[in-house]
Amino acid sequence: MLITFEGIDGCGKSTQVSRFEAILRERGISSVVTREPGGTKIGEAIRGILLNSDNTHIVPLAELFLYAADRAQHVGEVIRPALEGGKWVICDRYFDATTVYQGAILGHHEELIELLNREATLGCEPDITFLLDCPAEVGLKRRAKREMRDKGRDRFERKALDFHIKIRYGYLALANKYRDRFRIIDSTLPEDHVARKIREVISPYLPDNG
Ligand code: TYD
Repeated sequence: MLITFEGIDGCGKSTQVSRFEAILRERGISSVVTREPGGTKIGEAIRGILLNSDNTHIVPLAELFLYAADRAQHVGEVIRPALEGGKWVICDRYFDATTVYQGAILGHHEELIELLNREATLGCEPDITFLLDCPAEVGLKRRAKREMRDKGRDRFERKALDFHIKIRYGYLALANKYRDRFRIIDSTLPEDHVARKIREVISPYLPDNG
């Protein structure tokens, strides 16, 4: 099973990814937890370029190609081998992030984005994608709290509210288009409620039914 988590910055993905991993561990399911950009040594180097706040002058197409390069390496080195080995893979962001974020930035290059996503993923499509949905203001507030803890912001996190609103609605539109795969979870709910909802979705897939 390939399970992906998506949502705007500050939607609570990281917390829910670790809670999800814990559920699988309890059940004795062997899993790999990973993320994009990153997930491999090469990918972490690419992530460094992409999220470096000195790189605001990155050309949008260069940015798109770096995400695609990161993903191709990630799928080839980590995701596909893990799935072939019968493991569950939990991925914090995947190709939907490119559709939404780079789509919002690059707009008319939709076909190119689709082509790159298709090629980079080598046919590894998520079985379930959790969209942790919350208003942009909520995500930004949570993020501000996190920033007070880990001083410094990355390049994306400097973007304005309007951008986050656009990303949120981009994800909701995508979830509406691919209803079979997406599960929208209201991530304004307390952390335990969100975790419970995720568990409910996943329970039919667990040994002994959850
Ligand atoms: P992430 O580390 O998941 O940030 P956060 O924990 O704040 O959500 O992702 C970093 C940024 O990378 C995020 O703002 C979205 C962006 N991104 C893209 O623009 N395209 C992509 O394909 C991916 C995977 C991420």
